[in-house]
Amino acid sequence: MPEHVAIIMDGNGRWAQRHGKSRLEGHRQGVENVRRIVKASRNLGIQHITLYAFSVENWKRPKSEVSALMSLLNIYLKKELEELLQNGVRLNVIGRIEDLPKNVQKTLLDTIEKTKENSQQILTLALNYGARTEILDAVAKYTSLVAAGKEDSAELDWETFSSCLYTHNLPDPDLIIRTSGEHRLSNFLLLQAAYAEIYFTQLCWPEFLPEHLLEAIEDYNSRERRYGQTGEQIKEVKKSISPA
Ligand code: FPP
Repeated sequence: MPEHVAIIMDGNGRWAQRHGKSRLEGHRQGVENVRRIVKASRNLGIQHITLYAFSVENWKRPKSEVSALMSLLNIYLKKELEELLQNGVRLNVIGRIEDLPKNVQKTLLDTIEKTKENSQQILTLALNYGARTEILDAVAKYTSLVAAGKEDSAELDWETFSSCLYTHNLPDPDLIIRTSGEHRLSNFLLLQAAYAEIYFTQLCWPEFLPEHLLEAIEDYNSRERRYGQTGEQIKEVKKSISPA
């Protein structure tokens, strides 16, 4: 099982259009699917699930759609709290949450606080998230540590820099799934995706069911992750782990 699955939940609008429904109804169905897929991922024993729920670019959408998305998010978090607590799920957020509406920030912080002792699964929501913004924030954080004499720039390495990213407490994603037939990462976890396997499906987010998650995982399991090594080297490593 991949340890960390990250999902770009795309296609709520197109799903709605195809079914003669409003975009808002598409997002509502999208939230229903968040429930289904988070539950399925938990049952499969996936330790980390990260969902791209709102990007820094999404503010460009019509005001009414942005506020509908914020309101759906707020309702989702409030409704889901009991489920998260019962199942040992910890909520984590990546992104500039200080720019989200105050009521959403309050619900997020409240949910994070109430679930902070949980460790069965970490559910990370990317909200007002953009990878380039994340990199800028990490540089700002790192340079402030240098200015305070806590870091020496001559010794900068990836471990130190990645500890300044929003994802400092998460492993890199093993598998990134994007729904709706688009083949791009759209500013999502660009640095953390360095060695991730990427899976694209034509299905729109509301129709991406647990059985499709399983298909994505089967596809992931059929791939060979080499991290810059040769296939032969990987076979040797695998043999040394399981000599049978
Ligand atoms: C993409 O569909 C989806 C989004 C921009 C938002 C994803 C949000 C949700 C599923 C609901 C809120 C999230 C949580 C965690 C409760 P689109 O509108 O871009 O679809 P389109 O490209 O077909 O128009």
